[in-house]
Amino acid sequence: MSFVTRREAFLSKLDRPALLFAGGALPRNYPANLSPYRADSNFLYFFDRPEPGSAALFDPDDRSVTLYLPERTLDDALWHGELPSFEKVRESSQVTRVEALERIKEDVAARLRGRPLDSLAVSDPRATARARKMTGADLAFDDDGRVTRPELADTLFALRIRKGDDELAQMRETAKVTLLAHLEAMRASKPGVRERTLAGLVEGAFARAGMCPAYGTILSVRGEVLHNHGHDNVLQAGDLVLLDAGAEAPSGYCSDVTRTWPVGGPFSPEARDLYELVLEAQLKCIAMVRPGVRYRDIHTKAALVMTEGLVALGLLRGDPASLVEQGAHAVFFPHGVGHMIGLDVHDLEAFGDRLHYPGRQRSPQFGTKYLRMDRDLEVGHVVTIEPGLYFIPAILRSRDLRAQFQQQVDFERAEQYLAFNGGRGFGGIRIEDDVVCGAERPEVLTAAIPKDRAAVEAIAGTAG
Ligand code: GLY
Ligand code: MN
Repeated sequence: MSFVTRREAFLSKLDRPALLFAGGALPRNYPANLSPYRADSNFLYFFDRPEPGSAALFDPDDRSVTLYLPERTLDDALWHGELPSFEKVRESSQVTRVEALERIKEDVAARLRGRPLDSLAVSDPRATARARKMTGADLAFDDDGRVTRPELADTLFALRIRKGDDELAQMRETAKVTLLAHLEAMRASKPGVRERTLAGLVEGAFARAGMCPAYGTILSVRGEVLHNHGHDNVLQAGDLVLLDAGAEAPSGYCSDVTRTWPVGGPFSPEARDLYELVLEAQLKCIAMVRPGVRYRDIHTKAALVMTEGLVALGLLRGDPASLVEQGAHAVFFPHGVGHMIGLDVHDLEAFGDRLHYPGRQRSPQFGTKYLRMDRDLEVGHVVTIEPGLYFIPAILRSRDLRAQFQQQVDFERAEQYLAFNGGRGFGGIRIEDDVVCGAERPEVLTAAIPKDRAAVEAIAGTAG
């Protein structure tokens, strides 16, 4: 779908005018020193490479789209380069009209002629403040019940949740670049190398392709810290490197991929058993991605497969299905099996559980409560499948969890994994791919990134 077609589809579903904000570049400290710009995903869905600060009024009554852009000034031309005139932008973006952002309040009021207006909270608090003022709505970005009026959330969600061919084509491109990044990091992993050197290779591979990290790169021998953004460790033989990194294209579409590999030789016997187990769970879960399948059942499958393996390895005790029901698996698998992905890495997450758990309740149970989505899959949904197993000191030494699961978990045995690898601890293993729900079979967008145990062992540390 072209941007024009997307805007047409949006206009035909709107019940009243909607004003979307791209958000502006945010200062990283003082006002002139800005973080790299990234427009809000709801804006990126409708506009190609939007200018920082832009906004757009969609009016279903006359089916017009008014784009608001910052006035062109000499100062801006001097410091940031000359921008195309409003007329040029109107032609190239095929909107009804382009107006000055500086006059947005008066212009929108004149066009509304008293009709109510919807807008959305976005990550730029200045844009959200403007949206609040102009709509009178109590919008807040960090409260999913207040991101927008439910009707507008429903409309945007319905448009964005099923990915079309053009969107999938973008995600295939980011998958190709993500492959290069993962391969570089795998090859360069040797004892004595710093995590930040590998993270630099990953982000350099993205940059060379004109892309950027879709989220803070997770690259660590401390893979048991689920969102570990520190890169201070030096790799040692016997460590496991966990890399969770994905490229984002200028369109905003992205990948989210995790691989885990050994440093300085093949996996240890203990790591090999657990790696094979995570991979088995991941492959079985990927095979379940079909229309009509409940995503939470995929999560439960991951928990069940890994629980069976953990019972066989003596880390869990009892009947696997009953262990999963009690939540004992979460001692080793404490997160959800994945999430939607698209323009947002956790796609559409800002709209909250009303849409990600439609008519369903998020589990209050430790572990499963972190499952980000529980919808029935449809053709065009893209989800990640990312089971993992971890030896997390805070969990294994938690008095509450020890008391709750003393029968089900062999904590003494699990403690041995914390002493593993000369006292550095076992860390964690996660394997993650991005999977399209197709009518016939799932398509793994990130399938080319090696994950077979032997393949990963053969690549790790081979850089010259
Ligand atoms: N890539 C990080 C996450 O899915 O939470
Ligand atoms: Mn993910």
